[in-house]
Amino acid sequence: MISVAKTSEVPNFGKKAVSVSGREILLINLKGTFFAVENDCPHQGSPMNAGVVKDDYISCPRHGYRYKLRDGRCVEHPDYQLQVFPVQVVGDDIMIELE
Ligand code: FES
Repeated sequence: MISVAKTSEVPNFGKKAVSVSGREILLINLKGTFFAVENDCPHQGSPMNAGVVKDDYISCPRHGYRYKLRDGRCVEHPDYQLQVFPVQVVGDDIMIELE
């Protein structure tokens, strides 16, 4: 796992996009639980960092498709899958696992 940000950089209900090994990853803090997802919508590639986080979902800003933060599954169109990455918080470091 690699450290990609400090927890203080991603406030509650906040987001932060980071570049890791040439990939754009979006970190999300949902009530103290951190998630990491790819920053490109699998539908037509819109950047997800402009999306809205509500309940356990992030909505794409372009067409509004909702993706579950835990598994990346699209609610409206289950064939679309937002890639999610395992996250671990160690001290104040947000660590993620890239494949
Ligand atoms: S580009 Fe994200 S829902 Fe269409």
